[in-house]
Amino acid sequence: MKLFIPGPTEVRPEILAELAHPAIGHRTPECARLWQTARQGLGQLMHTQNEILMLTAPASAMMEAAIRNLVRKSSLHVVNGAFSKRWFDIACANGKDAHAVEIPWGQGIPPEQLRTALEEGIAKGHPYDVVTVVHNETSTGTLTPLAPLSAVLADYPQTLFCVDTVSSMAGTEVRVDDWGIDFCLFGLQKCLALPAGMAIAAISPRGLQRAAKVENRGWFLDVLRLAKGNEKEQSPTTPSTAHLYALVAQLKHIATEGLENRWRRHQEMAVKTRSWALGHGWELFPAEGYASPTVSCIARSQGPDFTPALDALKKKGILVSNGYGDLKNKTFRIGHMGEHTLEDLLDLLQQFDEALKTEVVA
Ligand SMILES: Cc1ncc(COP(=O)(O)O)c(C=O)c1O
Repeated sequence: MKLFIPGPTEVRPEILAELAHPAIGHRTPECARLWQTARQGLGQLMHTQNEILMLTAPASAMMEAAIRNLVRKSSLHVVNGAFSKRWFDIACANGKDAHAVEIPWGQGIPPEQLRTALEEGIAKGHPYDVVTVVHNETSTGTLTPLAPLSAVLADYPQTLFCVDTVSSMAGTEVRVDDWGIDFCLFGLQKCLALPAGMAIAAISPRGLQRAAKVENRGWFLDVLRLAKGNEKEQSPTTPSTAHLYALVAQLKHIATEGLENRWRRHQEMAVKTRSWALGHGWELFPAEGYASPTVSCIARSQGPDFTPALDALKKKGILVSNGYGDLKNKTFRIGHMGEHTLEDLLDLLQQFDEALKTEVVA
């Protein structure tokens, strides 16, 4: 199957070979070297000096880690899609006093609405310990600029800025330190183009200080335990060493491509996909100015029914995603992320056009 879904994405054969490394002991100098090299590379990727945490787990584990470690009592969750809703659900499931600020799906997050919600929390006597935001809502193909939100949060130093960059990291600009992100998380299976299996986060010094004051952080997701492991370049639990080899190799590959070139490649694919979609009478689901550079979410509007074409493509071994949840059959999503090139994308769009014609004739 050729994957044009918004993750997991295509993995290069060289990386598949890295995954075939024989297992090594996780308390060996070789493993410590891999751990250290991966953390250094991740710091560069994220533009941060913050502590880098790594877990053998899906990205959702780090969403839960943010809640368990940083929330003493109340949390605020900006919800504008399925994954931002998940973060709210995780906080509720952990017994936190969780509050959601609902934004229509496909809209970006207005900074002033964030300020209003923060003020309300203070006025009602439950100032928020954290605010959670999903940078790139994979469910709707919507990217929210973070710098304006960061500027608001500068006025609320007790509220830590937690950001999910699962489908944006390595595909578009993310500057953890410049944007004051206290907890920035992602997985490997999107724009990094590795198989799923590790969750990554960068936590700020004030995030670590907060964690020290939070009770019941649990064991597996305790950021202080993870940070302590880093002192010896070790994971507290047995990590997937196969993923460590692959991660180190892929970070090197990304540095060779050049991060800005990688961002540009994603943007070029997005621009092409959008004009192709509009040319068919479809619409972009996200509000104007918020369309994601890594995943395009396309709505039916006046265009032809795309669902038979999705099936026809699948028969040809090409996977494009239907809409997420309630958006199924109303939207579809093309993931132009990871290692795909403009050429790959043009090929996909041509095959899509053929699939659409076949269905009209049939
Ligand atoms: C924005 C976003 N956040 C979180 C997740 C959850 O990732 P995982 O399945 O690795 O837990 C996803 C998965 O698609 C996602 O797109």
